[in-house]
Amino acid sequence: MDSATPALPDAPRPPTPTAPAPPAIDAPLDDVHLAELVDRGWTRRAGFLGPALATAVRDEAQALRSAGALHPAGLGRAAVRDADIRGDEITWLSHHPDAPALASAWTRFGGLRAQLNRTLYLGLNGQEIQVACYPGDGAGYSRHVDALPGSLNRRVTAICYLNPDWHPGHGGQLRLWADDAVTLHEPVLDSLLVFFSDRIPHQVEPTFAERWAVTAWLRTTDPTRPAL
Ligand code: OGA
Ligand code: MN
Repeated sequence: MDSATPALPDAPRPPTPTAPAPPAIDAPLDDVHLAELVDRGWTRRAGFLGPALATAVRDEAQALRSAGALHPAGLGRAAVRDADIRGDEITWLSHHPDAPALASAWTRFGGLRAQLNRTLYLGLNGQEIQVACYPGDGAGYSRHVDALPGSLNRRVTAICYLNPDWHPGHGGQLRLWADDAVTLHEPVLDSLLVFFSDRIPHQVEPTFAERWAVTAWLRTTDPTRPAL
């Protein structure tokens, strides 16, 4: 180096790449999301758990599957399996899952429930949470709604997807209908979909790679009407 060259101060370092922080636990949705949910019945955001936790949830879910804890999803109360209608394998979480990432996910869905109560006065007083895997054999889930219209049981569906490296060739999009619009949502890692359970018909497109999601149904207690 030319000794006449003045010493340069250290060049500013580029910021260390860090994963985006997950949204606040007690306010996962912002005002725009809440307005969308009210106006058109559904909303989504790109991050919910944060990528590290979402990845840990997927790892725990895969361990559950390896341990044989997932079973073919039933339909309705009769638990009739109809692979033409839905081809996923599921398990229900208990209130205190003994897997730490799933327990954190439970808490975060609780934060969403509290926010919806605070902001939209929904009076949601419970949640049921399912881990679901579509094995990638081309199965999906045909068009349905998650609750009987006007049912007071399941009020809000919140789905957090757990698929890194997802690409459109894998299929598996969530197709949802709202008013006259149809939207396809790619089930990419840590994306969150929130919709009113009795209002938004939706389906899972045929899926050609292992597709994981954790879904919370946020509910009110209405003993007079069964949930779907
Ligand atoms: C369901 C469902 C959608 C998805 O389990 O009821 O519609 O994208 N899941 O996994
Ligand atoms: Mn559904």
